[in-house]
Amino acid sequence: MSGKVLIVDDEKLMRISLESQLKKEGYSVKSVDNALDGLKIVKSEEFDVVLTDLRLSGISGIDFLKEIKKYNQEIIVVIMTAYVTLESAVSAIKEGAYDYIAKPFSTDELIIKLQRALHHKNTAAEVNRLRKEVQAEFEFWNIIGKSEEIGKVLETVKSVSDRDTTVLIRGESGTGKEKIAGAIHYHSSRKNSPFIRVSCAALNREILESELFGHEKGAFTGAVKTRRGRFELADGGSIFLDDVDDIPLDMQVKLLRVLQERNFERVGGEETLRVDVRIICATKKDLLEQVKEGCFREDLFYRLNVVLIHIPPLRERREDIPLLINYFLKKFVSQYEDALPDISQETMNVLIAYDWPGNVRELENVIEHAVAFSKSKGISLDALPEYLRKVDIKTDLLSMDLSDKQNISLQDALTEVEKKLIQWAYQKASGNQVKMAEILGIPRTTLRNRLIKLQMFEKAVS
Ligand SMILES: Nc1ncnc2c1ncn2[C@@H]1O[C@H](COP(=O)(O)OP(=O)(O)OP(=O)(O)O)[C@@H](O)[C@H]1O
Ligand SMILES: [Mg+2]
Repeated sequence: MSGKVLIVDDEKLMRISLESQLKKEGYSVKSVDNALDGLKIVKSEEFDVVLTDLRLSGISGIDFLKEIKKYNQEIIVVIMTAYVTLESAVSAIKEGAYDYIAKPFSTDELIIKLQRALHHKNTAAEVNRLRKEVQAEFEFWNIIGKSEEIGKVLETVKSVSDRDTTVLIRGESGTGKEKIAGAIHYHSSRKNSPFIRVSCAALNREILESELFGHEKGAFTGAVKTRRGRFELADGGSIFLDDVDDIPLDMQVKLLRVLQERNFERVGGEETLRVDVRIICATKKDLLEQVKEGCFREDLFYRLNVVLIHIPPLRERREDIPLLINYFLKKFVSQYEDALPDISQETMNVLIAYDWPGNVRELENVIEHAVAFSKSKGISLDALPEYLRKVDIKTDLLSMDLSDKQNISLQDALTEVEKKLIQWAYQKASGNQVKMAEILGIPRTTLRNRLIKLQMFEKAVS
């Protein structure tokens, strides 16, 4: 690994010899004899490492170091000094020097230090890049949706993010539970600490316990060394317990204790460990129902249910579908194509009318499929997966599943019916609003007002 090094030293011989040694090793090198010139050069060119003497005439090495760090935190500074006192070394490191080296030193010694510094710089840059990438994925503007339902979800996310409140997220498969959990973590002050995810459904009892709490060496056959659990790994950050209802009853007690006291023991361990962790859980089920059935502890339920975020299924917020389609098209259309493909009216109708049992994830997969199978003209019905081409959007228009409902708001139900009828008219009239108004027997202005009020088809109908 070679890099670009700036040498600042007022001893001419030292400069010349360092410069030639480092060049021989493949580094690209510049050198100056004072801090002022050094600073000018640092501001006009990019260097990986600045190697500076501590004693310089004019501005001292420490002040030079401070100025560099003020300008750019990421430049690595290594201090050289003939008078290493512990004090000077400590104050240099405190001011942000990466390392120091005592004069006289051999080329090998210097190269080792420079290699370490460069490695550190690259790793730090990579970690930063990855962290930004992950954070971007969870930014609010990547949670797509304009429905009132998603609006409410985002409002709650914003208001609870920065508190340490335990959050329970409920929603069908593919509704975005993990995405919301990530948004909560990455908008909290814990964002630079780990976000650890555990799928409680995927693991059997023994593995789950040691996965969550860790184990001591010899705790069970196969435990050949001590292992830290996810709670320990999440210390300072957040833990996301997915499918929390799948945690077996007897282990729920241990989880309850972590929630109440923030401490636990590793499997087979005696030492009590303390963690500072924010807990976010997700479930596809009605946990209260699980409590009634005796599969979930009531006390744990109340501890988890401090803030409940319910993400409604996609079929209950169809106005989000066109926006999500657009978002996924951008994601999947090749970066070399400059325009997004048009979606035929017929295709859009099917996508809006379909019930999406797999919710946003299913829609995402369908759009990926459609992009791959689309012809040059855009996306038409034949680019959709086979099962969607058969969706009959005329059936089921007014059906509503009331079987597990105890009560229903008449207003909401009427709104739902109205939306469905408008969708139906929309499909029949291929989006033509004059025709739609005719079909529904209302003036066009009334239709427009209803469309705005119900936030429907903003994308599809202009
Ligand atoms: N509102 C949204 N905006 C953009 N993308 C979304 C949205 N909701 C979900 N997604 C995407 O849909 C996919 C499924 O979301 P996620 O994994 O968060 O769902 P989930 O509820 O955790 O599903 P499961 O219950 O199956 O674990 C992901 O790729 C996610 O990025
Ligand atoms: Mg999930």
